[in-house]
Amino acid sequence: MPTKIEKDVISGRDTTGHEWDGLKELNTPLPKWWLYSLIAICIWGVGYAVVYPSVPGLFGYYRGTIGYSTRAEVDADVAAIAASRAGSMDRIKATPFAQITSDPKLMAVAMASGKITFANNCQPCHGAGGGGRPGYPTLASDSWIWGGKLDDIVTSITHGIRSDDADARASAMPRFGADGVLKPAEISAVADYVLSLRGKTGIDVSAGAKLFAENCVACHGDKGEGKREVGAPNLRSAVNLYGTSKEAIVAQISLPRQGVMPSWNARLDAATIKSVAIYVHSLGGGE
Ligand code: HEC
Ligand code: HEC
Repeated sequence: MPTKIEKDVISGRDTTGHEWDGLKELNTPLPKWWLYSLIAICIWGVGYAVVYPSVPGLFGYYRGTIGYSTRAEVDADVAAIAASRAGSMDRIKATPFAQITSDPKLMAVAMASGKITFANNCQPCHGAGGGGRPGYPTLASDSWIWGGKLDDIVTSITHGIRSDDADARASAMPRFGADGVLKPAEISAVADYVLSLRGKTGIDVSAGAKLFAENCVACHGDKGEGKREVGAPNLRSAVNLYGTSKEAIVAQISLPRQGVMPSWNARLDAATIKSVAIYVHSLGGGE
């Protein structure tokens, strides 16, 4: 198609010479201000890409001439927060519990730190607010397996329970069924006795009571009230680890679960452990 540049009669502008079915294209140049802005932005963009981190590569990226990094900024922020907290956390570490609990400022720091530590580390097992789940004790009731004083709680957290820590709390309920110590009928009878401790009536527990006295009182106490020295739970309490149905009790007597609580001394520093102990103690059952 021949190109023919002519003047448009209405606008007075040149056409580009392109024509489609009688429609002619006007040659309307970009406004000057637009063009100069575009050029300015391009130049600024190249400059920005040189100065700041920009082009990605196979093994990293071009870091820019001024070495800017958001990670460095975050690190600096984190360090600043740690430094501002360090004073309080050092004091928590050095101060006995009795003094911390009577110092509202230290308590506020300990509770805030403990709450976060709990959510990050303990909640998956012990549930939100320490409510507990099957196999993982509630930390919000006054029914403690090992003890609910601040020092007891610190020991449980620091060394764990049946963990691989050398000073872990340890005690193992015998495997009465799995090791053939009691026959199935005896396990059933002693399980009935445990049910009677929680208030079930109308079952004959004479055989079970005898078996309990012979096999269980050493750890669970004469009346099944539990013994903290050996971490044997109170069998009369509604609060329990593994369930209160007869099947659950038979299963525990046959092959005890021997739940493991990890030790935290390698993962949390002393002040953080004290703080989370204060938080746990505050959940409702602290002694
Ligand atoms: C992997 C699961 C798990 C995690 C994570 C865990 N625990 Fe435990 N914890 C347990 C189990 C299981 C027991 C009960 C062990 C037993 O049979 O005596 C327990 C017991 C305890 C006890 C003793 C309760 C009592 O009645 O005497 C305390 C206190 C405790 N945990 C606090 C914590 C805190 C605080 C954290 C977080 C720093 C934590 N636990 C994280 C599993 C866990
Ligand atoms: C050497 C000490 C020891 C002896 C003996 C022992 N227990 Fe235990 N028992 C424990 C410990 C420790 C636990 C919690 C441990 C776990 O996680 O398995 C426990 C847990 C239980 C539970 C689960 C409690 C709950 O909260 O869910 C029942 C039920 C129970 N024992 C019944 C018995 C009966 C019945 C006998 C006797 C036939 C017995 N135990 C003998 C130490 C003992």
